[in-house]
Amino acid sequence: MLERLQELHDEAVTRTAQAETLKELQEVRVAYLGKKGPITEVMKSMGRLSTEERPVVGQKANEVRESVQALIEEKEKTLEEAQVLEQLKQESIDVSLPGRPVSKGSRHPLTSVVERIEDVFIGMGFQVAEGPEVETDYYNFESLNLPKHHPARDMQDTFFITPDLLLRTQTSPVQTRTMEKHEGRGPVKIVCPGKVYRRDEDDATHSHQFMQIEGLVVDEGIRMSDLKGIFEAFVKSYFGEDRDIRLRPSFFPFTEPSAELDISCAMCGGRGCRTCKGSGWIEVLGAGMVHPNVLEMGGFDPEKYSGFAFGMGVERFAMLKYGIDDIRHFYTNDTRFLEQFARE
Ligand code: DAH
Repeated sequence: MLERLQELHDEAVTRTAQAETLKELQEVRVAYLGKKGPITEVMKSMGRLSTEERPVVGQKANEVRESVQALIEEKEKTLEEAQVLEQLKQESIDVSLPGRPVSKGSRHPLTSVVERIEDVFIGMGFQVAEGPEVETDYYNFESLNLPKHHPARDMQDTFFITPDLLLRTQTSPVQTRTMEKHEGRGPVKIVCPGKVYRRDEDDATHSHQFMQIEGLVVDEGIRMSDLKGIFEAFVKSYFGEDRDIRLRPSFFPFTEPSAELDISCAMCGGRGCRTCKGSGWIEVLGAGMVHPNVLEMGGFDPEKYSGFAFGMGVERFAMLKYGIDDIRHFYTNDTRFLEQFARE
């Protein structure tokens, strides 16, 4: 019987060593230590032994059982640890892998251009004003010295909503609205960016909706030279120190005298090329000394106050600065175009 116990012990040791999973180990445990296992059988049959043999076999049986039990427990620990390690290995993330890129939106180029132009004027003491896009005939035309049936109205093809309401054709109505707020007291010094609408045929340089920035300065003793000085500073700050400006006589009903402002062509440096149509100059905005009638309708005394005003096309400025050849790029939301301004 002692031999049989030793045999069982050795068998159990081998099978424990061979167990590769917790499940297999459990099978070994049941097989050798279970109630119906061989060691238990040996112990049950001890009644048949003599009184001398019984304690010896009993002790051996206990030893075998304890030894097998200890071995199994030890192996169990090892297998459990291995399982945890395996699990950790499978669940671990490789932090050195590149992330999945998130596509990010960016400021629209027109927004950036407006903000940069605003910044230059804010730096010269201007404030930013706003006005409605649906405007009355009075503010859009009449208060700007364009009475009903005035032929100069034909210069701007207009989207009328009712005979008295329209989509503003220019940001100039904000001049009157701002002057009214100042109740006849200067100084007024504003720029006003915003959308304007004209019933144009859309092509590479025209759009039925585009953006303007209006400017207005009203105070005592404002002269044409102030206008020129402000523009010289603005153009050099926005386009670069090497750009020149020139003023050409023009006509607008709300200014007298009126002028068109040109900047020297960046493409050819003023020598003449396709962009400037050979002239060396590019027209960028309309301006002039505020007409006395306009000052008066805005509540300012034209005997005491004078001022200058200007209006520029934002798209045109952006096109000139970045060499964009078609105004429609701004409105078609092609991300290949828009992405190029992500860093602006
Ligand atoms: N409102 C004019 C236009 O849309 C531009 C303009 C010209 C604005 C002269 C002015 C100005 O304030 O003085 O064509």
